[in-house]
Amino acid sequence: MKDHAANTGIFNPEKIRPAAVTADDSELVMTVIGTFYPENTPLRELLLRHSRQVRDKALALLAASGRKLDVRLVADGAMLHDIGIGSCHAPKIYCEGILPYIAHGVAGAEMLRRYGAQHGIDLEVFARICERHTGSGITAAEVRAQQLPIPVRDYLPETPEEKLVCLADKFFSKSGNMREKSLEHIRKSMEKFGADAVDRFDELCRFFGVH
Ligand SMILES: [Fe+2]
Repeated sequence: MKDHAANTGIFNPEKIRPAAVTADDSELVMTVIGTFYPENTPLRELLLRHSRQVRDKALALLAASGRKLDVRLVADGAMLHDIGIGSCHAPKIYCEGILPYIAHGVAGAEMLRRYGAQHGIDLEVFARICERHTGSGITAAEVRAQQLPIPVRDYLPETPEEKLVCLADKFFSKSGNMREKSLEHIRKSMEKFGADAVDRFDELCRFFGVH
């Protein structure tokens, strides 16, 4: 059957596809990153590359989901979610700090809260994204049971923006070829964190219609 609406020029909402959502590096993001990561270092380049991958994926997932979120918060939150990695010890990805890598979310949140307090800006929304993006979130019970070296509390993504950055991050590693991972690959790698972690990942996928 011919597409009546298309032929007559009548507005047909079903024909509307979500527009691609893009975002550039904001001034805030580049100022904060520049404070902690000096230019022309491999760590800064890696952080920027990974963070932009996560941002672009988050925005693509958002556009496809049809959900209405705070795009600027998603974009800047994705750019800042791993700001804590430099405080951690992961020499293969140029991180020469002393904290265990699992603490990078908590470390990043503290960095942003401190930076915000020093500069009179409220970065709490970004701090929350940092501390809630690891795995599919982490519960206090998991911190205890797995004796994770972070304060015992829940680190679950709660707002849609926190959920989206957490989900988008799972598609990219900072080591290896850095190419986007398949859903199957991600799900498999979540299994080592337990059945609850896999269930939470599946829930994040359902929330954004990812399958
Ligand atoms: Fe990340």
